[in-house]
Amino acid sequence: MNPTTEILLDTAFKKDVYQGLSSFPKYLYSKYIYDATGDKLFQDIMALPEYYLTNCEFEILSTYTSEIAELFRGQGKGFDLIELGAGDGKKTKVLLKHLSDQEFNFIYKPIDISQNAIDDLTKTLSKELPKVRVDPEKGMYFEVLDRLKHYDSRKKVLMVLGSNIGNLLHPRAIEFLTQLKNVMNPNDLLFMGFDQKKHPQTILDAYNDPKGVTASFNKNLLHRINRELGGQFDVDKFKHWEVYDPETGTAKSYLVAKEAMKVRIEALDLNISFDAWETIHTEISQKYDDKIVAWLAKEAGLLVATSFTDSKHYYKNYIFRKNK
Ligand code: AVI
Repeated sequence: MNPTTEILLDTAFKKDVYQGLSSFPKYLYSKYIYDATGDKLFQDIMALPEYYLTNCEFEILSTYTSEIAELFRGQGKGFDLIELGAGDGKKTKVLLKHLSDQEFNFIYKPIDISQNAIDDLTKTLSKELPKVRVDPEKGMYFEVLDRLKHYDSRKKVLMVLGSNIGNLLHPRAIEFLTQLKNVMNPNDLLFMGFDQKKHPQTILDAYNDPKGVTASFNKNLLHRINRELGGQFDVDKFKHWEVYDPETGTAKSYLVAKEAMKVRIEALDLNISFDAWETIHTEISQKYDDKIVAWLAKEAGLLVATSFTDSKHYYKNYIFRKNK
């Protein structure tokens, strides 16, 4: 990268796109899928019958509501329920309704990168569950985590649903879990969803739906580069492709160039060449089993206290404590 290029790369998005598309093999980070269009497409994915993750986690939260609530209950002073990546809160509402009906002493602190998501959730909660005290915050996980250190007047329950951790490679997942551990006190809990290893076809189907919603979600990366960086991708010339390795439990998404082409990205002053069938790696969606989760926890200084699964054993929510 020469000095003039460095001046052009004045945002993380620009820098990451420049680096990812200048590398071999090419890659883009999945976090950039989530602009307003990407958020909407992800909502559509969650409503697909093939994307079993959402229904399985909903089933777990609905079946074990009171057991989970009892584990969350603090002694005397109640607890702060802090959800990272709250989104539309559909699954969390099952739990919040129970906590509210049973008059648990708690506040709910949803944290999300999208101000829209935060505003919508706060509005619907004030209508549907008016007794719940909500203290929302907009921000990225890692920024907000630092501020959570000051939440130590009573028990904290940190919650991360949706197997969001699966979008991180193991070393980054351990870093994330370590950062969560660092803001926890001995009594605090971490409640987290992990999609499990299962029949490889079920996993492939979840990431390759026949309606093509997942393909559109993946391709939003290229549309976003076109919209925001003056990219000239002909998106139809790329194919969404999913692979799953049952040994490692890693599902990987790609965009594959169907023909050789050159693509200009104006804001980066960059011309990229694609050979026919060259790939851009865009996302990993890691699948787990108890051994991998226990290993990740140990590496991060956490312990698995207990776990809950759905009737098909497709998905698990684990409760972690800090390892003394
Ligand atoms: C947000 N994340 C956990 C989803 C997943 O399953 O990896 C994103 C997604 N990608 C394709 N479909 C859904």
